[in-house]
Amino acid sequence: MSAKILDGRVIADELRAQVAVEAAQISAKLGRKPGLVAVLVGDDPASQAYVKSKGKATIDAGMASFEHRLPEGTSEQELLALIAKLNADDTVDGILVQLPLPGQIDTARVIEAIDPAKDVDGFHPMNAGRLATGLPSLVPGTPMGCIIMAKKAHASLAGLDAVVVGRSNIVGKPLAQLLIAESATVTVAHSKTKDLKEVCRRADLLCVAIGKTEFVKGDWIKPGATVIDVGINRVPGPDGKNKLVGDVAYEEAAKVAAWITPVPGGVGRMTVACLLVNTLRAAAARAGLEAPKI
Ligand code: GUN
Repeated sequence: MSAKILDGRVIADELRAQVAVEAAQISAKLGRKPGLVAVLVGDDPASQAYVKSKGKATIDAGMASFEHRLPEGTSEQELLALIAKLNADDTVDGILVQLPLPGQIDTARVIEAIDPAKDVDGFHPMNAGRLATGLPSLVPGTPMGCIIMAKKAHASLAGLDAVVVGRSNIVGKPLAQLLIAESATVTVAHSKTKDLKEVCRRADLLCVAIGKTEFVKGDWIKPGATVIDVGINRVPGPDGKNKLVGDVAYEEAAKVAAWITPVPGGVGRMTVACLLVNTLRAAAARAGLEAPKI
């Protein structure tokens, strides 16, 4: 058997095209474009690349993109002062602080300082709590992307045995909440889970976000399962340049699974597209407009 590919490029492009249509309509009603601000502290190359691609995608979708690049040594006070300014700026609908932050800054305090109505990453405890209690909220982009991809393979996720490997606030925990809301039977596994291989083998839908290169092997996968690989790991390639690989051993897994996301070109593409969806939702909600139809 060879798995069918859930192509993040195609699915994300479709979503981005829908975002562009809705963005034009909202812009006409607001009299300005929905605006997304990315804040980057320090010069981590991967974070710089993410922020750049988010900025380009925002502009391509017909929205306004603003960037604040602060030096590595920025204090927590300075960052909090910038966030207060962005919270008060009416042209800003979404605020994204790229993570990780340098060690002198308390990440939780920064996230809590963002106006929950502008929290397009969905990391604020208010949004996390609303998601957990089934209230409308801004939902983190990566897990939202995982659900959209899983639904390309399954008309409904109800009743599926879903296993999430990883328990981060960015992916694992919100993904588990979204899967519960879809009526899947959800297990959250992690590095301390006993018999992790056997737990994974029970999954109809296996979502892996553990941040370890090719951690999940082919014989950890139930034949016919859907595999969503959230990992983006940089490893040296044969040409000496870094290449991207997932948390799942792709070649082996693709022989067993029915559906699989590649790396690159899988979930990573969806994260940015979902961030744009959240910016639209935030812009509409803040202006008291009807929610966008995506
Ligand atoms: N770092 C890794 N993933 C993310 C994300 O989705 N949002 C932000 N802000 N930082 C990240």
